[in-house]
Amino acid sequence: MNKNVSVLIGSLRRGSYARKIAHNLINYFPDNYNASIIEIRNLPLYDFDYDDPQIIDKPTPPEYTLFRKTIKSSDGVLFVTPENNRTIPACLKNAIDIGSKPNNDVIWQRLPAGIISHSVGRMGGYSSQKNLRLALSYFNMPTPGQPEVFLSQSPTLLDADGQVTQESTVEFLQNYVSRLVQLIEQNTDSR
Ligand SMILES: Cc1cc2nc3c(=O)[nH]c(=O)nc-3n(C[C@H](O)[C@H](O)[C@H](O)COP(=O)(O)O)c2cc1C
Repeated sequence: MNKNVSVLIGSLRRGSYARKIAHNLINYFPDNYNASIIEIRNLPLYDFDYDDPQIIDKPTPPEYTLFRKTIKSSDGVLFVTPENNRTIPACLKNAIDIGSKPNNDVIWQRLPAGIISHSVGRMGGYSSQKNLRLALSYFNMPTPGQPEVFLSQSPTLLDADGQVTQESTVEFLQNYVSRLVQLIEQNTDSR
């Protein structure tokens, strides 16, 4: 059966390494998987007034509605993120917050999630990934277990065309995507 995976990138930068890595990852999914990047740039900053039924002069932004609908129709999500000041970039936290409301219809609930962090430095976005896991910890999202993926010195992993070239890294990432696919298959009926 065909499956949809939403890929969320924690960077708005044109030359983002996270985006380049995400494009590589998309190619590792099986043919019956449609993995595509869902843009989060235009999501207005989260404001609970939009979701508060008591407040009628601030309707839910259409960007929220579309985002929520897109994630809800996904069978899984893949986060690819750098680290900003030891945590996840604000654009990604904003998307997570938007998806976390309203309480009776949380789009993240039980959605299988892959989590990949990167950094131009040596830590591979460790703190970002751990903070992302913390932010998601309320939603019962199945994630592939060990090994987790922390990509350090990310520019050195990519060639001029943005391709991951080192065989061992490609295999490592392919293995992670396979484990995410396995999780999605196991959790198809649980949402
Ligand atoms: C505001 C800001 C804060 C950053 N903080 C961190 C950090 O805490 N840890 C880290 O490893 N890199 C940090 N960096 C460097 C990023 O890893 C680097 O800019 C990376 O290229 C961003 O990812 P991208 O290429 O996907 O946009 C920071 C960069 C910016 C712009």
